[in-house]
Amino acid sequence: MNTLRHLTLAVSLSCATLTSPLAHAGEVEVLHWWTSGGEARAVDTLKQMMQKQGDSWKDFAVAGGAGEAAMTVLKTRAVSGNPPSAAQLKGPDIQEWAEMGFLDDLNDIAEAGGWNDFLPTRVAETMQYDGDYVAVPAGIHRINWLWINPEVFKKAGATPPTNLDEFFAVADKLKAAGVVPIAHGGQNWQDGTIFETLVMAIMGPEGYDKVFVQNDEDAIRSEEMVKVFETFKRIKGYVDPNAAGRDWNLATAMVIEGKAGMQIMGDWAKAEFAAAGKKPGVDYQCVVFPGTESDFIYNIDSLTIFKIKNEANQKAQENLVRTVIDKPFQEVFNLNKGSIPVRTDIALDKFDDCAKQSSRDFQAADKAGRAEPSMAHSMANTSYIQGAIFDVVTNFFNDASADPKKATEQLVAAIQAAQ
Ligand code: GAL
Repeated sequence: MNTLRHLTLAVSLSCATLTSPLAHAGEVEVLHWWTSGGEARAVDTLKQMMQKQGDSWKDFAVAGGAGEAAMTVLKTRAVSGNPPSAAQLKGPDIQEWAEMGFLDDLNDIAEAGGWNDFLPTRVAETMQYDGDYVAVPAGIHRINWLWINPEVFKKAGATPPTNLDEFFAVADKLKAAGVVPIAHGGQNWQDGTIFETLVMAIMGPEGYDKVFVQNDEDAIRSEEMVKVFETFKRIKGYVDPNAAGRDWNLATAMVIEGKAGMQIMGDWAKAEFAAAGKKPGVDYQCVVFPGTESDFIYNIDSLTIFKIKNEANQKAQENLVRTVIDKPFQEVFNLNKGSIPVRTDIALDKFDDCAKQSSRDFQAADKAGRAEPSMAHSMANTSYIQGAIFDVVTNFFNDASADPKKATEQLVAAIQAAQ
């Protein structure tokens, strides 16, 4: 090879290096709480996509379902002037962090990517502060599901319940068959997950909205709310004595292993079944929680970008945002996470029947005014109000002599004090 050709080759090689993503390689440090088997598989898809583009991934995982521990750590890091470059944030917390000036505006990326064309309005609005995009949505979870082990049901002579009476009749059958009827972990957000599902079943979407979104005093101080607490107390009778402090995925494992018959949990539970090699409709069933068939309690996962100075890392942040909203990630992440894509322009061929139903039900509920944000998953109020509700709900659940009427009054008082 002559010298000129050598030179040309060298120049073109270095140009190739310059234009490859590696040339811009930066690092993203991502705070999240996706640490269970299924969740870890899902977040790993993002890590891999980022690495393929040449950016490095610094995992900042803080264990603890629903993210309470992660939020505490985030506050400490932010207050000390050293926030991670990206963090999982949800619902009104997004607006709070934006208002404090921590979050980068994502409008340029959103505009270039045409986000408004494919995001449902409800999702788009949740991602915005003052009309500006400040979060990128990853997927939509549904809370009001019941996860069933069909084998256990068969042995107990039970069939999936379609109303609350049937639900308790099934629970009795499971108890008689010697299994734990309801797999549960006694943590405030898990108690809250069951509680809000009962509010939906008993008070309907309008009542749910009044209680959790509007914090309407009359709706909280109502006969229906007393009934919610009474029903919640009945549930306790079907939970095993070792539930205190148990992580949600260990509760799911009880259903997977046939030690328990059912679990009330959002569809991240599906990711645990999938990670254990179980097939929907065969090894487990997803059934909409009885009495909430037309309703959808939603929980949108999203990532926010914190303002940082390093330019290479800023590029990596932008790459992260674009990757999360792009079709390939939306598909593979949600397939692994148990949720559904946020985009309306993604075919669901590869998704299972639970996801397809979730997608259909979300659209129908959204149109009919029956889609409501999850209180237990930080979609409905600030963490102060959520914390106040959790306190009343969890204390009630753990106190055998607690009175439903008194709890209703306590809920009114706690929410007022937190406002
Ligand atoms: C939710 C989160 C889900 C799931 C769940 C359990 O708050 O949105 O993605 O991870 O917590 O950790």
